Amino acid sequence: MLKLTCSALLALILLAACNGNKTTKVVIKQPQVIAPKDDHTQSNADSVEMQHLDLNIKVDMDAKLISGSATWTINNREKVKALKLDTYDLTIDSIFVDGSKVSFWLDSPVKYLGSALHIPISDNSKTVLIWYKTGKDASALQWLDPQQTHDKKHPFLYTQSESIHARSWIPCADGPGIRFTYAAQVQVPKGLMALMSAENPQQLSDSGQYRFRMDIPIPAYLMALAVGDIVFRSIDERTGVYAEPGMIAKARYEFEDVGKMVKTAEELYGPYRWGRYDMIVLPPGFPIGGMENPRLTFCTPTIIAGDRSLVNLIAHELAHSWSGNLVTNATWNDFWLNEGFTNYFERRITEQMMGKSYADMIWELGYQDMMDDIKTFGPTSRDTWLKADLKGRDPEEGVTNIPYEKGSHFLKLIELNVGREKMDQFLNKYFNEHAFKTITTEAFLQYLDSNLIKDDTALRTKLNINAWVYGPGIPANCPRAGQERFAKVDSQRDNFLQDTPPTELLTKDWTTHEWLHFLRNMPPALSARQMKLLDEEFSLTKSTNSEIADLWFVMAVRAKYEHAYSAMDQFLSSVGRQKFLDPLYAEMMKTPEGAKMAARIYEKYRKNYHPLAQAGLDKIVLKKS
Ligand code: BES
Ligand code: ZN
Repeated sequence: MLKLTCSALLALILLAACNGNKTTKVVIKQPQVIAPKDDHTQSNADSVEMQHLDLNIKVDMDAKLISGSATWTINNREKVKALKLDTYDLTIDSIFVDGSKVSFWLDSPVKYLGSALHIPISDNSKTVLIWYKTGKDASALQWLDPQQTHDKKHPFLYTQSESIHARSWIPCADGPGIRFTYAAQVQVPKGLMALMSAENPQQLSDSGQYRFRMDIPIPAYLMALAVGDIVFRSIDERTGVYAEPGMIAKARYEFEDVGKMVKTAEELYGPYRWGRYDMIVLPPGFPIGGMENPRLTFCTPTIIAGDRSLVNLIAHELAHSWSGNLVTNATWNDFWLNEGFTNYFERRITEQMMGKSYADMIWELGYQDMMDDIKTFGPTSRDTWLKADLKGRDPEEGVTNIPYEKGSHFLKLIELNVGREKMDQFLNKYFNEHAFKTITTEAFLQYLDSNLIKDDTALRTKLNINAWVYGPGIPANCPRAGQERFAKVDSQRDNFLQDTPPTELLTKDWTTHEWLHFLRNMPPALSARQMKLLDEEFSLTKSTNSEIADLWFVMAVRAKYEHAYSAMDQFLSSVGRQKFLDPLYAEMMKTPEGAKMAARIYEKYRKNYHPLAQAGLDKIVLKKS
């Protein structure tokens, strides 16, 4: 069980929240420290409040390093003798406490966690100024040469701080339960634009100097920076998109409905509290689908399908503006509170905008993903509990379909039992009362009990909460979405497998999701002849939809359908999203000739992938432990 060493101090802070063009003053009750035991930070932010960060850095695109200073405003609440911060492969040059130089030390690195930085402080110390530079192994940073970008003209840098990579570019107290405000001054080469998880520029600065402010306290995993040849296009008065010039028109088209999406989200769970909502479409090597950096979602270009069919990823990242960024998981063991809630919320937004039968398809695909993971882990595996146990492990080992899908299905179960109206009232209240706070699984369950279940013992028994949160596998009361549209897909698949020619299959109005369901549930290996028949009619090898293409290539490897191999090679050269790379390389590794092909392709394109993706693929393809 986690122990809450929560400070009773509630500070009233004045906060200027920008709402589009209007600036409103709002008062937020900020709990300065809520610090349950977090195994993934070596900092002592439970004793020393980390109130504010002033970052002053220079981004050197040639040397591929960030250097400068981080000044922390602190309150040594428990009068400790030293401040401990997280660092990962950082070089610390000098440290000044309230203007006086101090001697500090760095511990030797701990696996995954990096080196704890010890800084002597006194009872009343106020500011800690750290001069530092990043290292070659900075896990948050992806430095791109021009040829690795979309336009291939200028270098690019972006960060990915979740889960515990912020410490590789800023010395900080790197736990999701520790929040601070920040201001930053960032110098980049002239001609490039810099953006952060903050108030952002919309135009190039002639000097290459940019200033940022984030006046709402956020945890370190939401610190973000992107630098490159970037332009902006507005969508409506508070939403817009950034991308490289050659990508901006497509990105703007794809995201046409995002303004409406923000309004839909607000109708469900209350005001959007972060001012603007912008997105940046990153170069192809971005290792994940999207990242909910406050005010500026980072996303992969693989969702730019040309037909707006993959924008539910944006609904997901937007939903994190409530679940995650507003109410944050206290530790990575509570990750389902971020992602399960967000998955649920994302699908509520999608249902509102696209209708129930559409949202049901997304629920069903998620259900299938969840069942795949249960099969992989085994039905009794500890890793299938909602409450994770990641002590001594890389927190990213917890990023599976369990927190996302088991978490969202658990919430769906509650909704089905109490009714939508009560569920939404409960969630609105939950977001309001926990705004800008962190929450543990235990605190959430208690809140659920006292605010929704109350004295309904029959409901309590029916939900079987313990089995969901502290037990393996999928409880028998797991809900399953309506199969209205997928039932039709199933019958077309049956027809095909019984030799109906593809020209006669009824696929006319299918969306991406119907295609995914159709292909995913084919027998393990189709014959090369069956693959060819499908390909001739539906041009799957040439699909420009990344989700469909990826799945098709996995099937091609399985069926030894060589006709798709050169398109697959091209796909692997230009896509960096781990969700696509890992299963495809893993499929190739299953046979000796496939393994040779995987090794050959990986050798060519490894450098195109993000360091985090490389680490995963080194295990799969190069069998590195
Ligand atoms: N916050 C996550 C991404 C993340 C999680 C990065 C853990 C590092 C560690 C983000 O919101 C997310 O879930 N992205 C998904 C999108 C999807 C579920 C729609 C992704 O990238 O695939
Ligand atoms: Zn998410």
